Amino acid sequence: MKTFKVETEVKVFESLSKLSEADQQLVQHAKEAAKGAYAPYSHFNVGAALLLENGVIVKGNNQENAAYPSGICAERVAVFAAGANYPGVKIITMAVTAFSSKAKIDSPITPCGSCRQVMSEYETKSGSDIRLILCADCDEIWLLESVKSTLPLLFSAKSLK
Ligand code: THU
Repeated sequence: MKTFKVETEVKVFESLSKLSEADQQLVQHAKEAAKGAYAPYSHFNVGAALLLENGVIVKGNNQENAAYPSGICAERVAVFAAGANYPGVKIITMAVTAFSSKAKIDSPITPCGSCRQVMSEYETKSGSDIRLILCADCDEIWLLESVKSTLPLLFSAKSLK
């Protein structure tokens, strides 16, 4: 038997001001997006903002539904909006944040497994990594250089052949 390890590197910043100007702006767009979330059931507002290679910012937020599983996360709303409106344009960076009317979210929000799978597909499609900036109600910000690093052993089209 042999084993192998998979590792994820997370860069931790102590505050927003430690990020580049462009990254700070993207976080602000994500915060704006979170305010517009439709989250009457969870009261958990998530916002995502994508920077595309053409400079366009695409925003998304969670959209819930009385039939709970029919709702969709902020990250997928943003990524699918980019795919629909800017086909073939690479996603360079994605910022994600959240706030809740019920409790303070005191560590950066991490995208769910389904969103990571979807975001990874866009990395494969475009042939380039998507930087991820994760934050919440707290000062700390996490930066990851790719989505794939957050989803080791993901399912990919290679298995379909
Ligand atoms: N949610 C997101 O939008 N993104 C995440 O990364 C995690 C969870 C949404 C789904 C649901 O509307 C609410 O947050 C509570 O799970």
